Amino acid sequence: MTDQAPAPYAGNKRVLSGVQPSGDLHLGNYLGALVKFARLQHEMETFIFVADLHAITAWQDPKKLKQQVREIAAAYLATGLDPKVATIFAQSAVPAHAELAWVFNCVARLGWLDRMTQFKDKAGKHKERESVGLYTYPVLQAADILIYKATHVPVGEDQRQHLELTRDIAAKFNHDFDAEGFFPLPEALTQGPGARIMSLRDGSVKMSKSDPSDNSRINLTDDADAISQKIRKARTDADVLPEKLEDLAGRAEALNLIGVYAALSQRAAQDVLSEFAGQGFGALKPKLADLAVSVMGPIGGEMRRLLADPAEIDRILGAGAERARAVAAPTLAEVKKIVGYWGE
Ligand code: TYM
Repeated sequence: MTDQAPAPYAGNKRVLSGVQPSGDLHLGNYLGALVKFARLQHEMETFIFVADLHAITAWQDPKKLKQQVREIAAAYLATGLDPKVATIFAQSAVPAHAELAWVFNCVARLGWLDRMTQFKDKAGKHKERESVGLYTYPVLQAADILIYKATHVPVGEDQRQHLELTRDIAAKFNHDFDAEGFFPLPEALTQGPGARIMSLRDGSVKMSKSDPSDNSRINLTDDADAISQKIRKARTDADVLPEKLEDLAGRAEALNLIGVYAALSQRAAQDVLSEFAGQGFGALKPKLADLAVSVMGPIGGEMRRLLADPAEIDRILGAGAERARAVAAPTLAEVKKIVGYWGE
């Protein structure tokens, strides 16, 4: 390691996370990720970006992409991120992410990427037709995190494997280039009942932007009627709710609704279950609908208000990008020296 290395943030905690602008945000994104961003910004230095480089691993209409980025930024602001506290920006505005990703493409091993379940799920049976970008997606994700030497990454459970890969890449880089301690090994923050929210139509699959059924998810922009109706229509079973959480085993839909209730009300799932034990979904659903409307309704309203002033969102993203570029630059410069690239 060279003697002009920037401090490797030993002991300094830094949060980084992002969301793709590739469809409407839903309750899963909110509970699994966004709600944590707003909380963590007061505990650690926080970088939250819109993953527009990742978004084009699947086709995005160029006429719509910029607006999709603004929508995610509006969701960040509406759920409590404060641009004076956290750095909020678009990934494509900080070229260092892509530059570091190239170096990491040469550190990560094919065998590591071959194990990524998200690629397998997304590509299905026809992986030869997918973009190369979709395959190397987790390598870019590692660069997003490590270009800021982030130590904590709030994400949903589905991102755990990508975080493990990030740690493997960081460790191999540090080892191969004799730069011990240069990159931290970041930790995934997936705790809490909102880490894996399931579809309202099928408790065995996660709630997802790409599910063709809009009734499978509650969108951040749904109004009160839509939220209530989707909860009323949510798939359940005919049994009453038991006393103990263990007794919900095998009842995926029931477990999911209790989990959503717990996450929205910031209570323990067992506590919520005790309240409804012995009752059916006719008792649970109206209360859950009221709760969801009271939490989600104002977010949708605030997003609409913010989106009416796109210039202000662009200003926030512009200022965030400037700050992010300034933090990313010394890490990239150091990586270039460590790798032995030509340059000053
Ligand atoms: P994306 O846009 O697919 O998801 C955004 C966040 O929402 C979480 N999430 C869920 N959480 C609970 N239940 C669900 N049903 C659910 N569905 C989605 C995801 O776990 C994620 O936290 N690869 C990332 C984007 C990304 C990123 C990064 C994240 C790119 N670079 C660097 C962290 C750090 C993703 O899945 O986005």
